[in-house]
Amino acid sequence: MLHITEQDLTYYNTLGLKSSARSFLRLNSTANLPALTDIVPRFPGVVVLGGGSNVVLAPQVDELVIHVETRGVTLVDQETDAFVVEAQAGESWHHFVGLCIDQGWRGLENLALIPGTVGAAPIQNIGAYGVEQSEFFHSLVAWDMQRGEQVEMGPGDCLFAYRDSFFKHAEPGRWLILAVRYRLPHEWRPQLAYPDLARHPGIALAGAAVTPRQVFDAVCEIRRAKLPDPAELANVGSFFKNPIVDAKTFNALRELHPGMVAYALDGGTHFKLAAGWLIERSGWKGRRLGPVGMHERQSLVMVNHGGATARDIQVLADVIRAEVATRFGVRLEQEPVEMGSAASEQT
Ligand code: EPU
Repeated sequence: MLHITEQDLTYYNTLGLKSSARSFLRLNSTANLPALTDIVPRFPGVVVLGGGSNVVLAPQVDELVIHVETRGVTLVDQETDAFVVEAQAGESWHHFVGLCIDQGWRGLENLALIPGTVGAAPIQNIGAYGVEQSEFFHSLVAWDMQRGEQVEMGPGDCLFAYRDSFFKHAEPGRWLILAVRYRLPHEWRPQLAYPDLARHPGIALAGAAVTPRQVFDAVCEIRRAKLPDPAELANVGSFFKNPIVDAKTFNALRELHPGMVAYALDGGTHFKLAAGWLIERSGWKGRRLGPVGMHERQSLVMVNHGGATARDIQVLADVIRAEVATRFGVRLEQEPVEMGSAASEQT
């Protein structure tokens, strides 16, 4: 039985935007998927919502909102050199990472404390502290809402790139990710190159004897020190992607701004600029505009001080994009996805 109701979505998005859905459905089991596919054409579209930690929701959502609430983590395969672990889409990502470490399935610890669900992880190819989920991705199971069938997708289908995948460009609402599998090699190599992690006292002290749990704990500590907890101050993490420019552009920028923070990519042919640095140097660290602002410890994180709507978010995003473009000639690209009727009308 599919139970569709109206729903206030203010507490279903970590940015705390005032929003409401005309038609909201909790998906607890995959048994209802064929019935769901049959009713989808009755709605002006579909919005799939997991933890709501990477979305900018419009005040009114006319589409059918599917809240994915399936849970469960299982070891589905043992290869000679790796575990293959499957998590249902509604599982909390952070809970999943912790559970993997408890079980001795290692590799995802740099991705601790990322808000959101497992089903959302492949969509924006979550990454932190030198690791992206694509490095351990094995495959996923999705429901094709258009054809009413279950499909399996491998890394080649998902087209993972920095904060990007096939799903970010696909028809909105067509693909419902049901479960994601990760391949976690028996041989564990700690990834500690990211500066904040390398200089963390717990990591430096442990040296070569460092354990996955220590990396997990260090990442949690670094994130807690820098990033606001959405439960205390509404946010969706980084609001913009770190822009990637070619070496020529970077060298010209470095001449003008010697302190510019950037990371070399592809052996130095390209550079990823720290958008937080660009925003801070544009004077926006800790500054507000109306009910929203950029965080005082991490200027890449937009926060809602209370009562904001998608419109307030867009106004500040436009101001920041314009100021960074004027000052540095660099275009910032928004990271969280806009969802709902009014949001699409505004852009
Ligand atoms: N910086 C500043 N001012 C700021 C913020 C940053 O100057 O206000 C400079 C500093 O030099 C800092 C450097 O930028 O050392 C990098 O900052 P940070 O380590 O905080 O990382 P980031 O590049 O701003 C990215 C991800 C984060 C992820 C961290 C750690 C993106 C869009 N963001 O941020 O991901 O946690 O690296 O790996 O790639 C997210 O996607 O929501 C997210 C939080």
